[in-house]
Amino acid sequence: MPHADSSLVPEEVKTKAQFYAHVQEQLSHLLEGSTYWVSNLAQTSSLLYHSYLSTDLFGTSSTDSPLVNWVGFYIQPSSSSSTTTDTSSSSSSSSSPLLVGPYNGRPACVVIKPIKGKGVCADAFVDARTVIVEDVDEYPGHIACDGDTRSEIVVPLRIPSGTGNQLKTAGVLDLDSTARGTFDEEDQKGLEGIMTILANACDWGSL
Ligand code: SME
Repeated sequence: MPHADSSLVPEEVKTKAQFYAHVQEQLSHLLEGSTYWVSNLAQTSSLLYHSYLSTDLFGTSSTDSPLVNWVGFYIQPSSSSSTTTDTSSSSSSSSSPLLVGPYNGRPACVVIKPIKGKGVCADAFVDARTVIVEDVDEYPGHIACDGDTRSEIVVPLRIPSGTGNQLKTAGVLDLDSTARGTFDEEDQKGLEGIMTILANACDWGSL
């Protein structure tokens, strides 16, 4: 099967649970033999974005943009030398900025400060928990990268760290929608499953 066909959602997929089971299976196949984390985050963003495009399970957009108009990652690189905005430290810390990573959608803001109250991504990252936003206009601190966005879900990316079973939060997966209330607990469950597949498939190098 051509790689692109992995984002075609079959007609028999009728529920969100079936949608995420299908996407998780496709992702596992796509990531076979691929461990470089940048490639794998790029594949995940593309697979999700185009899978939402190929189903009407999530509703319809009322704008020219697709319903799910942005899918991508913000990552906290291990060295702050990768950004020109922070020269105070040469190693990662809880305050090193999140930087935009692989994504599909329109251009977005590059730097997000991981400070509670400074947006949905920051809150999800700092608390290491999924945040579902039914209406971005009601969310204190929401960062509007695209005026068409009305709702959002952000899922932490937790990766193996050190020896044993420890995990650390390396970034977040962010999804935006042009309709209010697009995402719920079914999306949370499905996307957290996708983050687990990704976390276990990658060599995270120095992240
Ligand atoms: N809305 C996010 C910023 C990232 S963009 O949506 C791609 C936030 O409030 O953190």
